[in-house]
Amino acid sequence: MPNESVDLVYVDPPFNTGKSQQGAAAKYEDAWPTMEAYIRWIRPRVEQVHRVLKPTGSLLLHCDWRGSHHLRLLLDDVFGPDRFVNELIWSYGLGGSSPRRFARKHDTILFYSRTDVYFFQPPMVPATSARMRGQLKKAGDILDIPSLNNMAAERTGYPTQKPLALLEMLISACCPEGGRVADFCCGSGTTLIAAKRLGRPFVGCDVSDDAVRMTEERLGSV
Ligand SMILES: C[S@@+](CC[C@H](N)C(=O)[O-])C[C@H]1O[C@@H](n2cnc3c(N)ncnc32)[C@H](O)[C@@H]1O
Repeated sequence: MPNESVDLVYVDPPFNTGKSQQGAAAKYEDAWPTMEAYIRWIRPRVEQVHRVLKPTGSLLLHCDWRGSHHLRLLLDDVFGPDRFVNELIWSYGLGGSSPRRFARKHDTILFYSRTDVYFFQPPMVPATSARMRGQLKKAGDILDIPSLNNMAAERTGYPTQKPLALLEMLISACCPEGGRVADFCCGSGTTLIAAKRLGRPFVGCDVSDDAVRMTEERLGSV
């Protein structure tokens, strides 16, 4: 891809969970021998993301408790520590419980910008305080959006598929109208479908043929 040609990169790579991710319709491998090996794998990819972002562009890197602290250091190194914008918490509700610890019910999305001039349009969400009842307020850095349940109409059978509501909120907030969105681990294509619905041009890829086939099918019906 050309240098400085993308407004927003969202990437939801494998998290190094140590296992194959198996869904009803596809699977992908998600195991590296060590966290160090995983970071060695992801570093050149993050460097390429930095190269293709416009000077006003941003990266949203989706991860979880296993890698977030390592990835934060990597992004500080590649983008610069001053380019950190937010650590977003996607609070998804389902699963994660254990008798031995607090339930793990969130993922982390690291938001870094290429320079200090970048696009941001705060999403508006319903206010919860009695004083502001019925009004909207700017969203905070905790995004309360349910994960897809087994009955969700948008479920494709691709493992770890993310909800369109999450991607639509992120793209609207972090990519200007008409700006180009890219996802280099597109899986079932959620980012690209959300971009298409929002009228943003998009580009995506995935190492898995199943992912590319599924994304093309979903895009065909938007
Ligand atoms: C967490 S899933 C993405 C799920 C996606 N966000 C969705 O909503 O369906 C991670 C994806 O990364 C892909 N992947 C793994 N290694 C890759 C590589 N080297 N290049 C591109 N994609 C890769 C996997 O095939 C998988 O589809």
